Amino acid sequence: MDIQVFQSEALAAQAAATLFAAQIISKPDSVLGLATGGTPLPCYGKLIEWHRMGGLDFAHAHSFNLDEYCGIAPDHPQSYHFYMEKHFFSQVNLPKANRHVPKGDLPREQSDAWQAECRAYDRAIAEAGGIDLQLLGIGGNGHIGFNEPAEAFTGDTHIVALASGTIEDNSRYFDSVEQVPTHAITLGIRSIFAARHIVLLATGEGKAQILQRLVQSEVDPHLPASILQIHPRVTVLADRAAARLLEG
Ligand code: GLP
Repeated sequence: MDIQVFQSEALAAQAAATLFAAQIISKPDSVLGLATGGTPLPCYGKLIEWHRMGGLDFAHAHSFNLDEYCGIAPDHPQSYHFYMEKHFFSQVNLPKANRHVPKGDLPREQSDAWQAECRAYDRAIAEAGGIDLQLLGIGGNGHIGFNEPAEAFTGDTHIVALASGTIEDNSRYFDSVEQVPTHAITLGIRSIFAARHIVLLATGEGKAQILQRLVQSEVDPHLPASILQIHPRVTVLADRAAARLLEG
């Protein structure tokens, strides 16, 4: 893992945006793996700014988001569909037909429909040529996407029961903890690992401990992000606050 530390959150986010811009410029039909949460917001802000200035054209790009809550409609303000529309898609020229976010609003009881959605999502990524550049944040427990700590690393896109810590962490975005969905649909670890280049963005004091664990841990499914240690091309971009507990 190449770990780069920046003076501020804005500079770390700008470095992530630069990797995405370079990817698009060198390969206009790139397949981008996108993430949600608070961390990537300034990165999306920079990409939008550069797009508006005229230098960044998403007209031929494809995107696949990591995850979505189950049982939540795309127009729910806390859905990742809504987030992506608000913070990125509505402000760049990435064609609608090329944007993908897993469906979260399938009928709860129809497990066949969920399975079909998971398989269709994996198929669509494969048909697009696989993910060129994957953006990741990291959960407080080391989850990436919504791959929670487990006995084994997960495979393809699947439905996951959210860990109680994740529900608590993410309740800051909802009116109450009871409103946080208990399940999510997420790219699996195998699908994330298949990306050609992965950039993990970690900013703020709240990520210091998990970043330290990530760097010091053995590769262990109880800390899902630890798999990134053995990926051939991972760039970790952190601000000083998140890198506070790293040596050197
Ligand atoms: C959610 C998302 C993750 C994200 C994590 C951290 O659980 N599924 O993809 O990395 O939150 O979010 P934040 O950046 O808001 O701390």
